[in-house]
Amino acid sequence: MDKLKIQGGQALNGTVNVSGAKNAALPILISAILGSGKSRFDRVPALQDIKTTELVLNHLGLTSTFEKGVMTLDAAKISTIEAPYDLVRKMRASVLVLGPLLAREGRAKVSLPGGCAIGARPIDFHLTALEKLGAKITLEGGYVIAEAKRLKGNRVSFEFPSVGATENAMMAACLADGETLLENSAKEPEIVDLAISLRSMGAKIEGEGSERIRIQGVNSLTGANHRIVGDRIEAGTFLAAALATRGKVRVEGLAPHHLEAVLQKFEEAGAIITRDAEAITLEARNGGKGTDVKTQPFPGFPTDMQAQFMAAMCVADGPSLITETIFENRFMHVPELARLGADLTVRGNSVLIRGKSKLIGAPLMATDLRASASLVMGGLCAEGETVVSRIYHLDRGYERMEEKLRSLGARIERAKEE
Ligand code: UD1
Repeated sequence: MDKLKIQGGQALNGTVNVSGAKNAALPILISAILGSGKSRFDRVPALQDIKTTELVLNHLGLTSTFEKGVMTLDAAKISTIEAPYDLVRKMRASVLVLGPLLAREGRAKVSLPGGCAIGARPIDFHLTALEKLGAKITLEGGYVIAEAKRLKGNRVSFEFPSVGATENAMMAACLADGETLLENSAKEPEIVDLAISLRSMGAKIEGEGSERIRIQGVNSLTGANHRIVGDRIEAGTFLAAALATRGKVRVEGLAPHHLEAVLQKFEEAGAIITRDAEAITLEARNGGKGTDVKTQPFPGFPTDMQAQFMAAMCVADGPSLITETIFENRFMHVPELARLGADLTVRGNSVLIRGKSKLIGAPLMATDLRASASLVMGGLCAEGETVVSRIYHLDRGYERMEEKLRSLGARIERAKEE
């Protein structure tokens, strides 16, 4: 197991390129199940979650190659309709194979997911949507079994705009008989990217990015050809690190409007933001001031940026109140940041942060993906050495994070855990 050793106190300065978005790549790679031909995806990030996805797809019978950011997947033959516990427990997003497998094969058996320990994270919205499309769902021995000779287009209204449920239903509806209307859909840029990729396979989808997505089912789909959208959360993480360390960082390779809610909060905190066509620059020479944030579905402030923004607020001038509305139990970084001397008080689903002028390095333990990023940021601000252990969480979602941080002037090294 690896750990990161950080000598804090350097302001981050320079330019960094963001990778393809993990959360777009996962459903998009999985959607290759729907096509009978060969798919090609560019700008696929080399991450643990991507390797897990490739393993899941290989297990289902798809053959693959993955080199230099290009993944090819051949779904000529599906050899099993079962995604076993051993694979699904490693990554919750594996549950996204349910919709495409069911739509193509008429049957799917998928283990109930594990993944990040950030709350209960049920999949009831996924199952209700598939039932609306005509699937018979049974639960047996920790597995979901879904069956339908052919799915039938229908109107599906989500109780909450769940990202995963929208993706599962969207993929399933592509091969259903007739028209599907998804209402109260998630509007995240990753949903839009999935729709673009599905269209490259011959799917008939419109309205993605709004709350009403309309899908005209077709009889078959070809392979996809798609380049993954830039990772807005990775970009936001580097920008938050620039704010926290009072530096100047330009992130390249993403559309600034995908991160608009976060950019507005950075501005409220006193940072100067420059938005270019495919790049964002944040300058925070004068440091940040306390700013309140509440997480919301897109276009609101993303829950995946909550922990990183909190780390920046730990060294801001004045108090901040950060409220988490998407996931319960997503404050596992709070006691770890407190070990650096940060002043944090949890009240229900909010955290009151009283910014401090100084944090002091300490040994920390990473707990989930975005929490890990916030601990690294805490270490970058803190005086002296911070060691972040269990960084396999970080490797699930950030490509070469320590290299990219080093290129911005951070003093950070990867080491083996004794
Ligand atoms: C996706 C992202 C994750 C992000 C989250 C919210 C991927 C691989 N992961 O996760 O990084 O934090 O969106 O932006 O893209 N819920 C239910 N029942 C369901 C489904 C969801 O109650 O069937 C609840 C969840 O417990 C949670 C909320 O709805 O409280 C939002 O979850 P959802 O949008 O589905 O998140 P994911 O797709 O799991």
